[in-house]
Amino acid sequence: MKATYFFGIIMASLLPISLSVAASLTDERQATLEHLLIQDCGSCHGLRMTGGLGPPALTPQILADKPPRESLIASVMFGRPGTAMPPWNALLNEQEATWMIDRLLQGVTPP
Ligand code: HEC
Repeated sequence: MKATYFFGIIMASLLPISLSVAASLTDERQATLEHLLIQDCGSCHGLRMTGGLGPPALTPQILADKPPRESLIASVMFGRPGTAMPPWNALLNEQEATWMIDRLLQGVTPP
């Protein structure tokens, strides 16, 4: 078993995933997360999530072929060791990381 895959499974298993996350975040917090997604995540992954200078695109089409939602959430929370992808768990809780992945799965378009 590849170490990175194993890491993803371990981390994903630590996350209690709720299916209705959006319902439990305030509108204000969701606006902050949307801003973070476009400004911060977008600075590497591209404003339109179509990929930057290296980091992968995070469009719904691309994500459809990627690992399951839980391991994408784990990538956001814990980063990808050995790559430029930083961990976000100092800024986001699991619920918020889940919200972000769900936004990406729906497709993000900057204003
Ligand atoms: C400093 C640059 C940088 C920033 C900022 C960044 N990422 Fe990443 N991200 C990366 C790189 C590089 C990878 C690819 C890691 C790898 O090769 O495994 C990645 C991978 C990912 C993946 C896994 C995609 C896949 O193909 O499996 C997700 C999901 C992701 N990032 C989401 C985010 C989100 C959400 C944010 C903002 C909270 C963010 N990233 C901010 C550089 C960044």
